[in-house]
Amino acid sequence: MKKKIAFITGIAGQDGSFLTELLLKKNYKVYGIIRRNSVVEHQRNRIEHLSKNLELLYGDLLNESSLAQLLRKIKPNEIYNLAAQSHVRISFDIPEFTAKTNALGVLNILQAYKNEAPSAKFYQASSSEMFGRSVDKDGYQRETTPMEPTSPYGCSKVFAYNLVKHFRFAYKLFACNGILFNHESTRRGSNFVTNKVVKNSVKIALGFQKYLEVGNIHAYRDWGHAKDYVKAMHKILNYKKPDDWVVATGQTRSVGQMIDYVFNRLNLNKKKHLRINKKFFRPEELKYLKGDSRKIRKTLKWKPEYSFENMLDEMIDFWMDFYKKNNRSKEF
Ligand code: GDD
Repeated sequence: MKKKIAFITGIAGQDGSFLTELLLKKNYKVYGIIRRNSVVEHQRNRIEHLSKNLELLYGDLLNESSLAQLLRKIKPNEIYNLAAQSHVRISFDIPEFTAKTNALGVLNILQAYKNEAPSAKFYQASSSEMFGRSVDKDGYQRETTPMEPTSPYGCSKVFAYNLVKHFRFAYKLFACNGILFNHESTRRGSNFVTNKVVKNSVKIALGFQKYLEVGNIHAYRDWGHAKDYVKAMHKILNYKKPDDWVVATGQTRSVGQMIDYVFNRLNLNKKKHLRINKKFFRPEELKYLKGDSRKIRKTLKWKPEYSFENMLDEMIDFWMDFYKKNNRSKEF
């Protein structure tokens, strides 16, 4: 049987690397684009262990002609658009770059898709950050919840989400949005809150440093594991029709509760080791996220395998092992 071909933007990120592993296991040929970077190794450390069925190419969402050329050549069956400026707080510092990449970049890849590979299926990494201030009366966000984004990042994602729907209806394309709530793992960038808390707490427990410094501990998030969430992406493109889907655990916890769990496991005292620093606050905070994922659970039979505790335990054990083996100066 002919191998299915996938094209992934953002392949070097947390989700791109887990999705690539999943698709290679399913016998896909995977192509991914990376941006030019002066230190090549930094781009590849999440994916360098993967096989010959993976090909990395240079490309950029801001360069439509290169996207078109690649899609014409590769002829993918599935396109996963995971590339983005994905850090919400940083989007307040670089709003224009964020909008160009996350909004106009999606327009670029949709145009290339429509013109060069219209029979492919298209997945857009949409985000629960799009809901912003909006929560339904029962305390959940779902596919029908209005969107009131609270950051340049959230605004850019709403633009892209609407474009994907528009391309689906206007040009009869199989274009889908996965509205993913927060999802974490040991591969999460260290400036997102879970991995930041875990790594720094482990270093405190080992005596390498004294404090964990964070921002708003009263925000609530619905945290799942990235490995579970990339399975949802694949299911979304392999359903009989294109649609938009919320992917979430349905449980919410505050940043403070997450820190409590990690500190308890490592026997750390908050009074002694936790500091609040204004520099990590956002001009406007998204205060509360809890996703209702009944639609994808019922229709696509998706459900998360990791619990919140299993996920944090895996991260704590990983970083404990890492820092015990390596000198702390050898970070990555
Ligand atoms: N990053 C960070 N650093 N966040 C902190 C800190 C800190 O020191 N202290 C408190 N927080 C709070 C943030 O204010 C936010 O309320 C929460 O922790 C989670 O922050 P992040 O882990 O940075 O994630 P996010 O929710 O802003 O965005 C992530 O999830 C979105 C889906 O809802 C990103 O992965 C986005 O790309 C994604 O779309």
